[in-house]
Amino acid sequence: MHAIKLKLENYRNIAAAELEFSRGVNLIYGANGQGKTNTLEAVNIFAQGRAFRTRSDKELVRRTFEPGEPLKGAEEIKAAGGKQLAAAKAAEYAAVLLDFEDRSGKASYAYYASSDGRNSRMANGVRVRSGADFIGRFRAVLFSPEHLELVKGGPNVRRAFFDIAISQLDPLYLGSLSRYLRMVEQRNALLRGWHSASESTKAALDTYTPGMAKEAAYITAARSKYAESADKYVRKVISDMTSGTEKPALNYDGRKSEQDFQQIFDAMRQRDIDRGTTTCGPHRDELTITIGGLPARSFASQGQQRSIALALKLAEGEICRERCGEYPVFLLDDILSELDPGRRAYIMSCLNNRQVIITSCENTMDELKSADSVFRAEGGRIVKVR
Ligand SMILES: Nc1ncnc2c1ncn2[C@@H]1O[C@H](COP(=O)(O)OP(=O)(O)OP(=O)(O)O)[C@@H](O)[C@H]1O
Ligand SMILES: [Mg+2]
Repeated sequence: MHAIKLKLENYRNIAAAELEFSRGVNLIYGANGQGKTNTLEAVNIFAQGRAFRTRSDKELVRRTFEPGEPLKGAEEIKAAGGKQLAAAKAAEYAAVLLDFEDRSGKASYAYYASSDGRNSRMANGVRVRSGADFIGRFRAVLFSPEHLELVKGGPNVRRAFFDIAISQLDPLYLGSLSRYLRMVEQRNALLRGWHSASESTKAALDTYTPGMAKEAAYITAARSKYAESADKYVRKVISDMTSGTEKPALNYDGRKSEQDFQQIFDAMRQRDIDRGTTTCGPHRDELTITIGGLPARSFASQGQQRSIALALKLAEGEICRERCGEYPVFLLDDILSELDPGRRAYIMSCLNNRQVIITSCENTMDELKSADSVFRAEGGRIVKVR
């Protein structure tokens, strides 16, 4: 998997940029606040279906602080998006276009966000309905300092990690998860209003159980399979990194059959009514990480936590290759500076022969001197310097 070219227009602080990537290590360097993370975020849209730092696409559209400045790229956006976009011409758009290549050939994807919060997408010139339709073709592993939360944060952070990673590999997973979460939401709404609900409304409670049990069995089987592979790689990476002194483990005890879930939901029925919410199921799954048998969340040192988070991300890349035959693109947002030289060198050796896009505030780090392409980010301009 290789990103070939990224084109940005009015994306966050970037008025216009075009980046042609090398197949090896690409470095984007520059001072704080210049547009480095914005660039990675844009690439990652095509892997995750949406921008990872925001819930509202409005934020993606460049705010120009010069009144009356013409909107850049409007004509192109109009041509690509067809009638509906043209009708909304008064709004401003951010445009992100990515050309990439995988084993099945070249592809061009585009994402447009409008300042009124709407968005649209094109895959090879064809309009696609939702961000989810992007997921599964362009594959990337994003790695930023916030990923320390994978170890330090609550179970919801690890569930989200699993959900995003598995969705990129298994096209059915996201659908199953969305259906399940929608049922839980509806069931919870019913449980919240339970005491004032009519008997006929109450009768709806059990109608959710078969559907939820079916999806829960699928979701937990996929998570179990993923957790087993991730556990294997995390152990190996940490063992290599620490010469075998640190022993982490990823534990997930979720695999149950549809019948098991049916029984569990039935058994918890009264408790759910008492508490006014669905108290068990994959939306409450725990995925624990231990080191030397103790929970890494509270016992591991900062450096150990960071290494485990890194190992999980490398595992994500390995599992991707194992299941779909090629490595994803690795997007490393400013993580090298936090590592000691030994761990830095180890990480770079793990990423040998893969496409990597790295951001950094400096371009003097030894590991980055041999980068195949170098871009400088300055005030929203991203210029190739090598
Ligand atoms: N919609 C927008 N319009 C204009 N500017 C924006 C928009 N969204 C974000 N920005 C600005 O983009 C700038 C660059 O953000 P980015 O996170 O890419 O910086 P960075 O180069 O990664 O910096 P750091 O080294 O601190 O991580 C920020 O100053 C932010 O205010
Ligand atoms: Mg940044």
